[in-house]
Order: sequence, then C-alpha cells, then structure tokens
Amino acid sequence: MTATTNKKLLAWVDEVRAMCKPDHVVWCDGSPEEYDRMTNTLVKGGTFIRLNDEIRPNSFYCRSDPADVARVEETTFICSEKEEDAGPTNNWADPKEMKDKLRGLYDGCMQGRTMYVIPYSMGPIGSPIAKVGIELTDSAYVVVNMHIMARVGTKVLEVLGDSDDYVRGIHSVGAPLKDPKQPDVPWPCNAENKYITHYPETREIWSYGSGYGGNALLGKKCHALRIASVQARDEGWLAEHMLILKITSPEGEVKHVGAAFPSACGKTNLAMMEPTIPGWKIETIGDDIAWMKFGPDGRLHAINPETGFFGVAPGTSMASNPNAMRTLYANSIFTNCAITPDGDVWWEEMDGDEPESLFDWLRRGWRPGCGRKASHPNARFTTPARQCPVIAEEWEHPGGVPIDAFLFGGRRATTIPLVTEAFSWNHGTFLGSVMSSEMTAAAAGTVGKLRRDPMAMLPFCGYHMGDYLAHWINIGKKAKEGKLPKIYYVNWFRKNEDGKWLWPGFGENSRVLKWIFERCNDTVDAVETPFGYAPQKNELDVSGLSLSDEDLDVLLQVDTKTLSEEIDDMRQHFAKFGEKLPAELKAELDTLEEKLKG
Ligand code: GTP
Ligand code: SPV
Ligand code: MN
Repeated sequence: MTATTNKKLLAWVDEVRAMCKPDHVVWCDGSPEEYDRMTNTLVKGGTFIRLNDEIRPNSFYCRSDPADVARVEETTFICSEKEEDAGPTNNWADPKEMKDKLRGLYDGCMQGRTMYVIPYSMGPIGSPIAKVGIELTDSAYVVVNMHIMARVGTKVLEVLGDSDDYVRGIHSVGAPLKDPKQPDVPWPCNAENKYITHYPETREIWSYGSGYGGNALLGKKCHALRIASVQARDEGWLAEHMLILKITSPEGEVKHVGAAFPSACGKTNLAMMEPTIPGWKIETIGDDIAWMKFGPDGRLHAINPETGFFGVAPGTSMASNPNAMRTLYANSIFTNCAITPDGDVWWEEMDGDEPESLFDWLRRGWRPGCGRKASHPNARFTTPARQCPVIAEEWEHPGGVPIDAFLFGGRRATTIPLVTEAFSWNHGTFLGSVMSSEMTAAAAGTVGKLRRDPMAMLPFCGYHMGDYLAHWINIGKKAKEGKLPKIYYVNWFRKNEDGKWLWPGFGENSRVLKWIFERCNDTVDAVETPFGYAPQKNELDVSGLSLSDEDLDVLLQVDTKTLSEEIDDMRQHFAKFGEKLPAELKAELDTLEEKLKG
C-alpha cells in the first residue's frame, strides 16, 4: 500500500524502478518502528554495530569503505541546460549526455536490493519557507540518516498531495547484487564511478556510487543548497551554507546571527557554543544551512531546513563543544570514528585519557602512540537536533527568526584579523565574495590548500557564482532602509610562528559575538581600517583570558602589507566571473586597493 495517489509521483517511482530493477520497493513512513526495523537490519547485515546500550543508548557505529569518506567535488556536476549557467566554479555537463551516461550506470544497479522511497520536507512541514523532496535510494544507511536529518514519511506525502512541486532525487550506491548468493559488503559503493549530478531547471538530483554524507543524503547539500540556491535566486530569497544562532544579552535582549564558514571550519561549534563571558546565552537554531526570506516586517527571516546535525566528530569534546557531546548521548549514528572494547565510540581529542586499545575506522587494532589516527578526519556523528540542550525554543517556527548579523569566515593562519565589520551591505558582500580558507578533510582533495570560497558556497552554489554574487547585491537593493543584517568577517584560526592558535576559539568566540551584538546596537566604538571597522583593543572583552598584549595586537590588526599582497589574487578570482561580476564588487576591490596604498 502506498500512501499517495499522486499520479506523477507514482509514475516516476515506477520509471526509476524499471530502470534500476530493485527486488523490492518500500515507501518509508518515517515512523520510529521503521527506524528500529532498519537499524536492526543494518546490524544483521554487518553495516552497523549496536553500541553499548548502557553507555550510548540506541546508537550505532558504522565504518564506510575507505574509498568513500567525504564529498567528492571533482565529480559533482551542475547540469544546467546552458554551460554558462553553471559558471566557472562548477563542473558542468550537458544534462542529456549526463543522464544518458547515468542511465547506463543505473540500469539494473539496484538488483538484489530494496529501493526506498523517502518523502522528506526541508523545513517545518507546512512552513511557507519549507520545500518537499522525494529521494529514491538503495541504501538503508541513507534512510536511517534521513530519519534524523529531515522530516520524513507519510505526513510529507499528505502535505504534498497531488502537487508536482517537489525535488526528485535518485540515489544508488552503484553496487548491485546480481547473483542471489553474492554476499553483501558492510558499505557498498562504487568507488571508481561516483557522480553527484544536479539538474536545476527540472529540480532533479541523480547521485551514483557514493553512500557518504552530502553525496547521498540528498536533502542536505544537493537539495537544500545546490537546487535551493537556484530557486532562491528565481524567487528572491537566500539558501546559504550558514549556521543560525540566537544570542541573549545579560539584559535579556535577543538577536539572531547567521554565519557562513566553509566545511569543517566551525559552524557546528559556534552554533551551540557555551559562552565564557558571564550572563550571555547562546542557543542553536541550525548548524549548517539557512533558508531566508523577507518577512512582513521587511527583515530577513531564517529557518533551519534540517532536523539533525551531521557533525565533524574529531575535535569534539566537553572542552570544545560540550553541547554537541550532550546532544549525541543517545539515538545517534557514528560513521568512521573508532570503537572501544566496551562498545562506545572514540575519536581524537575526545575527553579523558586515550583508551588503552581500540579498533580504528579501518578495523585495525589501535594503541596510543601507534602513530596513526584512530578516526578518519571527516568522521561524523548524525544526531537529532531536538536532543541539543541549547536548542532554541523557536527552532521550528514556520516563519523563521529575524537575522541581525551575518558572519563570514574561514581558516586563515595569517593575514585575516579576528573580526572586522563591513561598511555597508555591498562591502559585506565583497568581504564574503573574497573570503578564503585552507581546505579541510570534509571534501576529497588537498587539505590545507588555500582557496577563495565565496560565502562558503563554492561547492554548493547551483548556478553561476557571478550571478550568485549579483543576487546578494540585489537583495541589498530590494531591502528597505535599515532592515538588512550587518555583516562581519571573522577568523578564529590565526596561528603564531610556532604553528599554535593565537586565539583560544570555541566558547571564547562569545567575546567576539558580544562585540558584534553591541555594534548592532551602536553601543561600542570601532576604528575605521581599509578592511572594515575593527574593535578598539580595549573594547573587545578579553577579561580573564590569558592572552598577551602582543598576540591581541596581531589578532586585531588589519595588516595593510599582507592584505595588499592578496589584491592580485582577489583580482584573478574576480576575473573568472567575467561580465557577470557585479560592478559594485569591482568598485569595492578598487577602493580597498586605493585605501591600502594610502
Ligand atoms: P561542516 O559540517 O563540514 O559544514 O563543518 P562545520 O563548519 O560545522 O565545522 P565544525 O564546527 O564541525 O568544526 C570543524 C573542526 O574545527 C572541528 O575539529 C573543531 O574542533 C574545529 N573548530 C571549531 N571551532 C573552532 C575554533 O573556534 N577554534 C579552533 N581552533 N578550532 C575550531
Ligand atoms: C560539509 O561538507 O559542508 C558538510 C558535510 O556539512 S556533508 O553533508 O557531507 O556535505
Ligand atoms: Mn556543511
């Protein structure tokens, strides 16, 4: 029995069934019973290990194929009708050619497997900002992760009704079991043939070969960012790679902040941080994606389209991110970290002493000092947002929360100061457009390599990046005077000559948020620099921090010399966008160059 009479949906599911030839088709109802049934099946099949129920109730441990551990940007494609619409920063392929190629790969690719139909809503069901998608997948791992990450099941089909307005996603691990006697492997995938493809005009996603994270949980990066960014451009809203947090001052005044940092650059940490400064409160709305529309009050209102956190495990501890640790106490899935002899998970920098022995993410015995990391650097937890002890009460408000400030930032060991405030919306858009970061293990590639990553959207923008930047400028033009968020550029990742962090980061970032809060209220001064307004040394609250005067100087200083050295690189970056580069941004770069000379 299927829970829908939506003819076009039924026809599409049939069409995909005929192509992929699964043994069974199952419509997911999204119930807890379904979750339990499927996690049990995953345990029986050897994909999951049930963790010790007394230590980590109802939680599961999983190791991927070593060749399938992160997003694959090289084989992620935007297959717009016109190549120009994908722009210079995306891989493009002709939609017809790509679909022909994938039809070849999809032919019989689900043999011996079940095809699950996952109806999901990104955003609270019924919210005017929310959108529906349907993911067809042959991965039970994907189904249970989607249960945590999105609102899934029959209730989504009910709101969809007979409508045609949903994103169609096909996902296969690309590992058919052709012979009924062929045993399955714990993590089926097709390491040599991974394709993550998007069809913005027809709102489709076809993914093949990978079962990991954003490659496979199609509601997240593929839908909520790559496809949604195109819809947002067409409809005048914003789909961004941003956390959303709520900050309350000691006086009880509330503001909301959206912050765009590239993958593995601190969104989850900032979204649920425990402030170190007395009296201030931070609560979480979302940790990865923000969808924002203008509300009746003329301000940008943000929702978190997700319901869970797919967070970086290594480095997460009671010291760095206590609220994440408290969230994942139970009902969570852990992928590619290590497992302890007593049946709990472990990863680098977790609290306490290193366990005396472990099994690592590659199934090998591991001991402290053996010279290897026990968990993969992109090991992740999947955990329900509702379990977060500091989730804000309004996190599921259908209308979202009004945003007061945007933060942009990345990993920069040098040059970029701790915080600067943009002079204007256009200047803030400029700072976001040239933001740069050292690459992390969240994507397959060269860790540590510096790249410009506009608004942390380089891997996630579903159209021409020049048009995307123009969309930001247009949002500024459309908004009413004084209604737009202020924009800040932050960098928690400065290092000294010995390679040590200059800034303590994590909960101490609340000091920077406090300054931003006060700037929004115009109650604290700033100094004007070529790069933006910077805090006066005595106006950033560093009380109780053991930070030397010299280090604070380095952190806050806008170093005109090192910044000047980046102008050429910024120009080359802009040159890629050709005619599409908004004149406003070129003008901002010219002004910056002039000011740095002066
Ligand atoms: P994605 O989920 O990939 O989008 O990543 P994210 O932006 O949510 O990054 P996350 O908060 O998971 O942080 C990634 C890594 O950066 C973790 O290892 C953190 O410990 C580390 N990190 C986060 N915030 C800080 C900080 O303020 N200072 C320092 N030094 N490291 C940080
Ligand atoms: C990121 O890489 O930005 C993530 C993880 O949030 S994934 O969902 O795999 O894209
Ligand atoms: Mn992310």
